[in-house]
Amino acid sequence: MIDSEIDPEINPEINAADGEHDRTPQTGRLYGLGIGPGDPELITLKAYRILQSVPVIAYPTMENGKVLARAIVADCLRADQIEIPLPLPFSPVRSSQPYYDLAAEKLAGYLSNGQDVAVLCEGEPFLYGSFMYLFNRLSGQFKTEVVPGISSTMASASALGVPLTYRDDVLSIMPATLSAEVLRDRLAVADCAVIIKLGRHFSKVRDVLVELGLFSRALYIERATMPNQRIVAIAEVDPAEVPYWSLVVIPSQQKSVS
Ligand SMILES: C[S@@+](CC[C@H](N)C(=O)[O-])C[C@H]1O[C@@H](n2cnc3c(N)ncnc32)[C@H](O)[C@@H]1O
Repeated sequence: MIDSEIDPEINPEINAADGEHDRTPQTGRLYGLGIGPGDPELITLKAYRILQSVPVIAYPTMENGKVLARAIVADCLRADQIEIPLPLPFSPVRSSQPYYDLAAEKLAGYLSNGQDVAVLCEGEPFLYGSFMYLFNRLSGQFKTEVVPGISSTMASASALGVPLTYRDDVLSIMPATLSAEVLRDRLAVADCAVIIKLGRHFSKVRDVLVELGLFSRALYIERATMPNQRIVAIAEVDPAEVPYWSLVVIPSQQKSVS
């Protein structure tokens, strides 16, 4: 046992047990809120309750000010909540790390001040979510709770009307940012797959799918569950127009097995 756990002068909680006030400064709680893929009705009851109760809401923004996460929850927010946009470069050539350092420092200020902070995270926070980088920086210092969200990978399968996995199928989720070689290797052994982060990587993905004979099985969706959701045959997709918020689903082939 270390000294601070037994010395009441050092650990005020022990004084509190003796009837004195706990003078430990109360820090706020950090929430990583999964807010789903876009449709505000796909926010969990828990995320909704926390959204409405915390004094501080933070969310990543592009440097041009564009922000998706806030738009998803706009109708849930109160006018008196403090909002903290966290600019991120979203660039393949610039590191996000200094931006996350700054963001963590900013949030730590509110948390140290005793204010709870909810960080919005599109989809599921722990699946390629930006919140993970704040979690890694802050969860050792502040009480932290992650509220899972409905991932775009799951929501897209529903929107496309294709079951993802049967029986002993293995689902692979992979980013299109991988090299063509790695994508080829992973997809060659996948029972079913979801390829995210398409954007400017679409042509590379398409070529690999054609090469592996998976192109006719692949399904494409943009902005799943958002008002401007778009489902189009993958052969008709214009690579120059593929948005970041798009993905490809390669469903299981076991459909006929009952
Ligand atoms: C950084 S990852 C975040 C994933 C997110 N945490 C989740 O669980 O859905 C961003 C990628 O997720 C996919 N994505 C997220 N939301 C989407 C949506 N509503 N429709 C289609 N793809 C989406 C896109 O491929 C996008 O490039």
